[in-house]
Amino acid sequence: TFVVNESCIRCKIMDCVNVCPVDCFYEGENMLVIHPDECIDCGVCVPECPVDAIKPDSEPGLEKWLSLNAEYAKIWPNITVNKAPPPDSKEWEGKPDKLQYFSP
Ligand code: SF4
Ligand code: F3S
Repeated sequence: TFVVNESCIRCKIMDCVNVCPVDCFYEGENMLVIHPDECIDCGVCVPECPVDAIKPDSEPGLEKWLSLNAEYAKIWPNITVNKAPPPDSKEWEGKPDKLQYFSP
């Protein structure tokens, strides 16, 4: 499965949702997550994200992000069409340690 990592937090660009053939993105206040049981591993969302926030869960160090994606995909609403990103989205590109800003 693919997972969304902390690069998405507060950037929330949302171009990823438009291309997912199985509509498996879920929307939180300041990031999106992928439902790991629904993702079919097609990979088409990966190049859509300008901040490179979508990674295969086989990459080392992504365990905690896989858990977070799985947990919140169960409770957040599904999103299938993009909306406008937050007005300060650009300012958060590439900022380190954004987990502290995560809004459950
Ligand atoms: Fe959707 Fe494919 Fe991305 Fe999985 S890899 S979230 S199925 S677009
Ligand atoms: Fe996040 Fe990138 Fe999608 S910033 S909302 S994973 S396009």
